[in-house]
Amino acid sequence: MNDVKAIEVSHLVKRYGSFTAVSDISFDVAKGEFMGLLGPNGAGKSTTLKAVTGLLRPTSGEIRIQGVDIKDHRKALEHVGCVIETPMPYGDFTPADLLQHVGRIYGLDKAEIAIRGRDVLEEMKLWDWRYKKIDGFSKGMKQRVVLAQALLPNPDIIVLDEPTSGLDPRGMVEVREILKGLKRKDRSLLISTHILSEISELCGSVTMIRDGEAIISGDVSELLSGSRMGPITLEIKMLKTIGPELISELESSTGVRDCERMGDHVVKVSFMGSSEEQAEIVSKAYNSGLGLMSVNESGKNLESLYMEMTEEESA
Ligand SMILES: Nc1ncnc2c1ncn2[C@@H]1O[C@H](COP(=O)(O)OP(=O)(O)O)[C@@H](O)[C@H]1O
Ligand SMILES: [Mg+2]
Repeated sequence: MNDVKAIEVSHLVKRYGSFTAVSDISFDVAKGEFMGLLGPNGAGKSTTLKAVTGLLRPTSGEIRIQGVDIKDHRKALEHVGCVIETPMPYGDFTPADLLQHVGRIYGLDKAEIAIRGRDVLEEMKLWDWRYKKIDGFSKGMKQRVVLAQALLPNPDIIVLDEPTSGLDPRGMVEVREILKGLKRKDRSLLISTHILSEISELCGSVTMIRDGEAIISGDVSELLSGSRMGPITLEIKMLKTIGPELISELESSTGVRDCERMGDHVVKVSFMGSSEEQAEIVSKAYNSGLGLMSVNESGKNLESLYMEMTEEESA
């Protein structure tokens, strides 16, 4: 069955005593999709991911991994690799030792551990470091060791809770680059972060949460362009005087809610619709024979919404 979702979360609620950390969050992650869970500190990201990976029991709601109810832990998590509050490895271990150990826990045989071990160490750019003690590694390298452990059994679904948090800027870039390299047609990723740019770099879709509630969910590029977040304003500037013909043509375009002339050369168009419909409006201005000089787009998008949200937090 091809349309089985990698992850389905429906009406997830988690209360700690009388405190509701997650209230009624729903989203799903398709096969091959990279989904980001975006939200400020305390939003409920870790709680959600712990529920998804069976580390805590939801108060209510349903979670399915590849169609299997998470209540059936073993089966549901068979193809899931996750890093959630995984302690940093340390001590006298080398990456090679650690993967031997982890591989045995996963029930891989010697040959499998050798093959997969090499794959993940190369993927994590740790191959040259495999016989070095982890103790001396930077935080970013340690995080890559943790990722290598999670990826050893070659999971179809990867769940990572803020994998770049606590790293220095260079470590963050390294880990992000590695995460980008994990894209594969049949692999799904669910990752949490409080950094918006991480979402736009890595994810195709996003669910933004605050105070345990999902605020908005959808395609990252659509949300970043604002086309799905309420009307945007297109300020169209023409070389020649704008006449009533252009105004009425714009007004009758799909998605246009309102047109306001601002002097002779500028018209402000309030618009909500698809990218194609937006392109149609710009072509009309271009084809008017009045000389299109510029189009300025403004309005709410994922970034301004997230900014508002985090400003409120810090206020
Ligand atoms: N074990 C717990 N007991 C009580 N409250 C908790 C517990 N874990 C988390 N919380 C609270 O739940 C909310 C969401 O936490 P969390 O899921 O860790 O958020 P995030 O990962 O987005 O920072 C926070 O207000 C946090 O203080
Ligand atoms: Mg967290």
